[in-house]
Amino acid sequence: MLFQAKVKEVAEQVAVDSKWLLQQFQDVFESYSKDGLWISAAPGRVNLIGEHTDYSGGFVFPVAIGHNVAIVFRPRTDRIVRLYSCDYRQMSEFCLDEIGTSPDAPWSNFFRGVAWALSGWELPKRGLDAVISGDVPIGAGLSSSAAFEVASAFALLTAAGTDPAILDSFESECGLKVRREIALACQKAENLFVGVSCGIMDQMASCMGRTGHGIYLDCRSLEHEPVRLGFDDADMKIVVYDTGIRRGLVSSEYNRRRQEVETGTKMIADILGQSDIRSLRDVELSTFEAVREMLPPEVARRCEHVVKENERVWNSVAALRQGDLLAFANLMWESHESLRDLYEVSCPELDMAVKLAFETGGVLGARMTGAGFGGCTVNLVRNDALNDLISALPGSPLRPGASEPRAFVIDVVDGARVSEL
Ligand code: GLA
Repeated sequence: MLFQAKVKEVAEQVAVDSKWLLQQFQDVFESYSKDGLWISAAPGRVNLIGEHTDYSGGFVFPVAIGHNVAIVFRPRTDRIVRLYSCDYRQMSEFCLDEIGTSPDAPWSNFFRGVAWALSGWELPKRGLDAVISGDVPIGAGLSSSAAFEVASAFALLTAAGTDPAILDSFESECGLKVRREIALACQKAENLFVGVSCGIMDQMASCMGRTGHGIYLDCRSLEHEPVRLGFDDADMKIVVYDTGIRRGLVSSEYNRRRQEVETGTKMIADILGQSDIRSLRDVELSTFEAVREMLPPEVARRCEHVVKENERVWNSVAALRQGDLLAFANLMWESHESLRDLYEVSCPELDMAVKLAFETGGVLGARMTGAGFGGCTVNLVRNDALNDLISALPGSPLRPGASEPRAFVIDVVDGARVSEL
């Protein structure tokens, strides 16, 4: 599996075995000095609540997780980029003056796309030699692509001479501004270069994540605020259960949902005669309820999910600020029901995993997370119930041909980093 291998926790919040990756660099490029070598690492994410709300300018609440894509790289003086994927065991090379997609090494398109998206920035174009590895499960809805994109942007910007102190800062206004711009460039790369529609949540989570905090993000203004979770103090953990189900349907259904929500928004604006309604976050629940009957039933269901899911995000943040974990967890169950019944992006295996979680004492809340149709559930679990949950969840493939399901306890970590090796 891509980016699966050999990644472990190490010091300095770069959760990658940097020594192993350094060794790979030395072997691949036959260069045995450590001089001028850097490491960038960017985490995947789990969305705690606020699903399918980002592309209509709504609210989300993801965390960055202790699973990363990491890149060991050395800037070059010319414009050549040489990439080696440790997980695909494949080299891919291109020039920054002529960036095209690679049919032979499709994994490299994420990096190429980011280089393309950054090419409009007023920076010197400088290539690099790099080795890449990671441990974010692919296709599980934990944003391995966003992690790769963001780690790539940090590497390319460092090679171009951007002050690493600014790139690495979560505190300064300037550092946060650069991170916001990086997230947007990575989303642009994924939308326009790789050709996959996505909102801004994954890239923002990978850039802005903070240890022990959820990222309360307004996907229209891109203002964000880290909100303390307090799970550790309450002896709780986040458990992710990867069902092992990967569905090809995701992108066509994802695009269809986006379309339905846009249609609904336009219809509501027309019915109310309010052209300033740009997205569903401009529609209050009471207003929505007043016009609901005038919408086609399917469109109405999609819009109801989005309007209420935005409210659930606000209520979740309010609950966590008051330390009311039970109230937060109840919103997780509600979110799942809404994704299952109104937005219709769940699947039998996700529903089964959430039901089993509901029936396990000590599990406060659970829901599907990510785009849906497979992938993962996220569970808020008391420490003393971890084993009960993990043994309740099936461990062998849930469908013929599906991968083995896996459950893992998640660390909530800081967003992307870059440092000299
Ligand atoms: C995918 C997309 C995100 C978001 C989620 C659903 O992960 O990449 O932008 O839309 O689905 O919440």
